[in-house]
Amino acid sequence: MLLRIPGVYPPQDDTWLLAGTLVEHPLTPLTRVLDICTGTGALALRAAQLGASCVTAVDISRRAVLTARLNARIHRHTIRVLQGNLTAPVRDEDFDLVISNPPYVPAQDDRLPDTGMAQAWDAGTDGRALLDRICAQVPDVLAPGGTLLLAQSALSGADKTQVMLEEQGLQVDVIARQDIPFGPVLTARRHMLTARGIITADQRTEEMVVIRGRQHP
Ligand SMILES: C[S@@+](CC[C@H](N)C(=O)[O-])C[C@H]1O[C@@H](n2cnc3c(N)ncnc32)[C@H](O)[C@@H]1O
Repeated sequence: MLLRIPGVYPPQDDTWLLAGTLVEHPLTPLTRVLDICTGTGALALRAAQLGASCVTAVDISRRAVLTARLNARIHRHTIRVLQGNLTAPVRDEDFDLVISNPPYVPAQDDRLPDTGMAQAWDAGTDGRALLDRICAQVPDVLAPGGTLLLAQSALSGADKTQVMLEEQGLQVDVIARQDIPFGPVLTARRHMLTARGIITADQRTEEMVVIRGRQHP
């Protein structure tokens, strides 16, 4: 069970799709794990439950940081939870596994909210504001041989993520896919997304993917 302070993203299909891929990743007490955009800390906690002892979680939201700290304590795991912007709080460190389920929903405009629930999903007009920054920043915090597991909607350009990570020298593949029905946010944006040609008029589902990027040893 996960505690959640109001305003923090409740773990959903995207969270669980990424969590499912963690099982296939060997985690030992020495594996250094970084969860970027941790929310409730669900993914950081899952990594700890699967055997990682050196887990760090980052979120920009004060409420999310407090929630993740409480969840770590309730579940009796030691997780270092830091408030900050993506990799900024850990920019001088190296991790063996970086996981992230960031905001990726195409929004009305390119302004990123600095408060409220929308901070958990709004990601600029193309949905890539956070994804592009993660692709650019993560290789710098990945240890040699390290792995990135990144969840996103195909509506926000999974191909572009693959290309950006490959350009950074990572070996990239898609390790999980799932069609999920539009939730309330996408349902409310259906007309806008149709007008932009991002979805078809009769579309009611989006494909979620988990992209894996591996740093050469
Ligand atoms: C889609 S939610 C995912 C939460 C959690 N990882 C999960 O899968 O349930 C995205 C999270 O990213 C956080 N976030 C948004 N912008 C951020 C940024 N620039 N740096 C760090 N975290 C950010 C939000 O506060 C929110 O908790």
